[in-house]
Order: sequence, then C-alpha cells, then structure tokens
Amino acid sequence: MEKMRENISETWLVLISVILVTAIFAKIILFKLGKEDKRKCRLPPGRRGWPLIGDSINWYNAVASSHPPQFVEEMVKRYGKIFSCSLFGKWAVVSADPSFNRFVMQNEGRLFISSYPKSFRDLVGKNGVITVQGEQQRKLHGIASNMMRLEKLKFHFLNDIQKVMVQTLGNFNNNQVILLQDVCRKVAIHLMVNQLLGVSSESQVNEMAQLFSDFVDGCLSIPINIPGYAYHTAMKARENIISKINKIIEEHRQKGAPMEGSGVLGRLLEEESLPDDAVADFIINLLFAGNETTTKTMLFAVYFLTQCPRAMKQLLEEHSSLRSDSGDELLTWQDYKAMSFTQCVIDETLRLGGIAIWLMREAKEDVQYQDFIIPKGCFVVPFLSAVHLDEKIYSGALDFNPWRWMEHENEEKRNWRSSPFYAPFGGGARFCPGAELARLQIALFLHYFVTTYRWTQMKEDRMSFFPSARLVNGFEICLTRRQDETD
Ligand code: HEM
Repeated sequence: MEKMRENISETWLVLISVILVTAIFAKIILFKLGKEDKRKCRLPPGRRGWPLIGDSINWYNAVASSHPPQFVEEMVKRYGKIFSCSLFGKWAVVSADPSFNRFVMQNEGRLFISSYPKSFRDLVGKNGVITVQGEQQRKLHGIASNMMRLEKLKFHFLNDIQKVMVQTLGNFNNNQVILLQDVCRKVAIHLMVNQLLGVSSESQVNEMAQLFSDFVDGCLSIPINIPGYAYHTAMKARENIISKINKIIEEHRQKGAPMEGSGVLGRLLEEESLPDDAVADFIINLLFAGNETTTKTMLFAVYFLTQCPRAMKQLLEEHSSLRSDSGDELLTWQDYKAMSFTQCVIDETLRLGGIAIWLMREAKEDVQYQDFIIPKGCFVVPFLSAVHLDEKIYSGALDFNPWRWMEHENEEKRNWRSSPFYAPFGGGARFCPGAELARLQIALFLHYFVTTYRWTQMKEDRMSFFPSARLVNGFEICLTRRQDETD
C-alpha cells in the first residue's frame, strides 16, 4: 500500500514537471511569435499585391510612363509617404518622404547598402566605386571627388569641353533635320573619351566612342551573355576598353613624366597609386555613371526650353551677352559663373526630368525608423522624383518654371548638396562626385547649342524613364543657323 502511494506521488511529480516545462516552453514560443507578429506589424503599411510578381507590373508601367511617381503617388494616398510593397519577388520599403530619403542616404554603408545584380557588377567591374562597399568605396569616392572638384574643372576641363562642343555641334547645315537625342549622346560620349582618357585625335576618338557606346548600351540591356545580345557586345567592349586603358598606362610609365592633356586617367596615374585593374574599373565606372545622365539632362533641357519660349528667350539673352562681353572665342570661368539663369534652367530640368528617379538600397540589418522596423535584406527605395514632383513642396510641380529657383523661399531647398527636398545627385557617402562637372558640361552645351541654332520641333514627343530615360521619338528637330539668319 505504502509502495503504491509512493508510486502515485512520483507519477504526479513527473506529470507536474512535464506540465510546467511545457508551459514554460509554450510561453517562450508564444513570446517569440508575438515578437515576430509585432515586427511584421511594424513594417511600414502596404500590400503584397499579386503572388510572386507583387506590384512589379504597376511599378514598371509607372516608370516607363512620362510620370514615373504615378504608382508611388497612388500608394502614398492609401498608406502614407513610407509604404511597403512586393517588387521583383522581395519586400520593398518605398519612400516619398524627404526626411526618410535623407536618412537612408546618410546611413549608406552602416544601415543600408546599395545593391546591384551580379550581371551588372561583372560589366561595370568589381573594383569600381559603384559596386564596392565600406572602406574601399570611401577611398575611391574620395579619389573621384578630387578628380572632378571645382579647381580641376577650371584648369583641366573648361576649355576641353568647349572644343568638343565646337567639334560635335558646329557643323550642322541649315534645314538639317536631326534627332537631338542621338546628337546629345554623341556629345556626351566624345566628352567622356576626351576627358577620361585624354584622347583627342579624330580616328582614336571615333574608335573609343564606338566602344563606349556599345558598353553603355549593354549596361541598360537584358543580361544575356551570348553573341548577338547587347550585353555580350558590351562585355567585349569592356575588354577592349580595358586593353586600351592598359596601353595608355604602359605609355605613361615609359614616358615617366606627367602627360599634358592626358585626362582623368593621366592625372590618376600621377596623383594616386591604384593597382592597374582598379584603374581600369575606376574609369569604366565614371563612364557608366556619367554618360547617360549627362546626355539626357542636356536633351531634356532643350525639350523643356522648346515648350517654354519665355525661358528660351531669357536663356538666349544671357548667353548672347556673355559672348559679346568676353569677345574671346572660348568662354572663361567668369563667363560660366555669370550664367545664373542657366543654372536655374539646369536645376529645373533636374527637378522635372531628373534621371536618377529612385535609388536602390538594401537594409543591412533590422532598421528602426520612427515606429517602423525595416527587416534585414529588404529593398529600400528612396523615390527622389516623388519628392521633386510633390505639389505640396513645389507649387505647379509639373510645370517647367526655372524662375522658381530665384524665389527667396526656395533658396535653402535649392541646395542640391544637402537639401532633403531636392537631391538630383543623391546624398551621403554616394553623393555624385561628377555633379559639378555635369553642370559645367550641360551649361556649355546649352551655350553652344542655343547661340548657334534656332530649331523647330518636327514630331510630338514625351519623356519615358525606363529601361533608360529618353524621349520616345528621339526629339526630331529642324535646325537653322542663327549666324546665316543675320547675314
Ligand atoms: C546630370 C548628370 C548626373 C546626375 C543626375 C547624376 C546623379 C547621380 C546620383 C543620383 C548618384 C547617386 C547614386 C546612388 O546613391 O546610388 C550618382 C553617383 C555617381 N555619379 Fe553621378 N550623376 C550625373 C553625372 C555624373 C558624371 C558626369 C559623372 C562622372 C564623370 C558621375 C559619376 C558618378 C559616380 C562615380 C557615382 C557613384 C558614386 C559612389 O557610388 O560612391 N556622375 N550620380
């Protein structure tokens, strides 16, 4: 009997222990699940959309239209300025919020990193500033900023840019019909060949220009590395560009002295000590980052000016007065500094037709921002053009109005280096090191184009921003030389 009682109390003890341990485990699991739930709840509001494709099609339709923030604006109305959706099979946090966009850019490398597919990294190079991270990125970014700072522009770029403009824009005939998009591309590629490599003989420029053009086309194409596809042609162009760069490096070493007019490459070899493969990738990265952006900003500036005769007239007056004042054939740095209305035209073009419509980042860890948690690995997309085209920030946001930048209330907003409301060149550690160079090139392009030609538009056109920024009909115009009109 005693034995039986002992057995019963032992059984109870085991049972109670099992219940207790189970309860504790259940509690821990429930606590964890609760935490997971809370985390899910705190992702910015939004929706998953269709299985797998999510909102990718809506996204594509918007960015391929002439008003890229269309989809973002619809989502903002429903969910607020920071929302989540599913893009390309992954969660994405998209933002039309100026402060959050700034927060993302300022925390580059710490909380967020820029991420690109392998096919793109293979093409632009694994050692270039765009694809590297951390310490290496900071080093290369510093070198790029140094190569293109204001002092260098004054001494190394100002005259060379103008020579390229005269060469590429000077020879159109009266009544010649051109596609301005193609002409701007040619101008930008010649600028790149000349300024990056210091190449100026016509045959060499043409050869390099073809390679550069093939390379840039491949960066914006479907990544299929089989003969016949643009990506494959671009990979071949990359190899050729690298062998040309290596040849120039070799020549430079043999001569042993700084080469006058040897471009960014020559100065890079003189002033920095990068391994040869890093030098080639460095140059190729500048080529990729600077080419399409500059081409399309030149093109869009002329497109907007054509639609706004009052701005065109004021711009022409500014440039005509410069030429008669200086009397010299080439413009000086003072002339450039006196182009105040031109700067407003460039700013307004970048606001309304900014090429970098969004930035692509990934959360490096779970990131807390206000009440939201952005989970590690999630895409984060600061949608710059949604801010630039926000009616609450810019009245008459969809109108081309360069005079807005002269208004006192927009003075701070206009600071493209630090303004949360106007960031056409990005910000933080990846802020565009070519911003000043691009502005100089665009201003000089406008000078030579508007003072040499008058034009009439032959076909209706509209902007589109995907897969690359463009005017869908290439902006067909008929030119008349101004000089011949007055003769
Ligand atoms: C109007 C013309 C241009 C625009 C609108 C523009 C815009 C931008 C933007 C928004 C970024 C930041 C990208 C990001 O954060 O992911 C960027 C980066 C960059 N840009 Fe530009 N850019 C222009 C012209 C140029 C030119 C002419 C060059 C050089 C020749 C250049 C070189 C670069 C480089 C190397 C980076 C990468 C910096 C890094 O990742 O550290 N850009 N640009």
